[in-house]
Amino acid sequence: MFVYPIVLSQTKFTHRDNLRYPFEERGLQFGDGIYEVIRIYNGTYYLLEEHIDRLFRSAKAIKLELPFTKDEITNLLLELLKRNKMTSDGKTYLQATRGSAPRDHVFPVNVESNIYAYTQDLPRKHDNLEKGVSAITRHDSRWDYCYIKSLNLLPNVLAKQEAKENGCYEAIFHKDGQVTECSSSNVYLVKDGKIHTHPATSGILHGCVRMQVEKFAADLSIPFVENGFSLDDITTADELFLSSSTSEIMPIVSVDGTSVGNGKPGDVTQKLQECYEKDANIITHTV
Ligand code: PDD
Repeated sequence: MFVYPIVLSQTKFTHRDNLRYPFEERGLQFGDGIYEVIRIYNGTYYLLEEHIDRLFRSAKAIKLELPFTKDEITNLLLELLKRNKMTSDGKTYLQATRGSAPRDHVFPVNVESNIYAYTQDLPRKHDNLEKGVSAITRHDSRWDYCYIKSLNLLPNVLAKQEAKENGCYEAIFHKDGQVTECSSSNVYLVKDGKIHTHPATSGILHGCVRMQVEKFAADLSIPFVENGFSLDDITTADELFLSSSTSEIMPIVSVDGTSVGNGKPGDVTQKLQECYEKDANIITHTV
């Protein structure tokens, strides 16, 4: 996927080839940092404010001092798109770590956070959005603070890889049969006209698209019930779908090789997809 040449490094812009970190870097050595992935449609950010808010929540949770205000980083991210003359569909990746320092678990003193952000093209996944995707289920072996968008993603990476090796798009995480979220998205079940999902506790990432799904549901007068659901519930579900900045609102039509509902994207999911396209000002739509 095409990566644009101008990147944000700390609070300055530079060519991506100039981005260099020493090997004693806390993001690299400890995963001691946080990140955001922000969707772009036609060169314009979608849900930028929500992502910046979450970045600051994550920073506070790991006691990381960011060297900018919300307004400053917002302007820098907007400038990143301008400098790259970015006009297509894409995403920006932003990362902040506890900086470069001799390796020691204890926080370094007077060390600045390392920040970088870059932007790249990311076409919409029309085929998946239209036909739906399949998923596997895996035990959620992550820690207790999944609401922090931390760089520690090994359980997520391993689960996603297993999904791929099984010919699937996503891995649905569960704890003792209770579904939490997916490896890189939130997940929802539709039954008898109601949307069920895990509550926004510290056990899941509070997705920016999830917030929109809740709003769209209210607009459509569809109950949005945050009481969670189990793996057993999936076997009798009418619909299942996931949401994330990169996947949007995507139907899940098969889980562990068994069809969900009638094996096709359902009405509720499709209505939410329409709301998403309107909300994100997506001009061309084939869904
Ligand atoms: N993933 N849950 C997890 C574990 C995630 O990693 C993500 C996002 C989400 C959805 O969050 P949002 O709606 O704010 O994108 C839920 C991003 C896209 C990633 O890591 O690439």
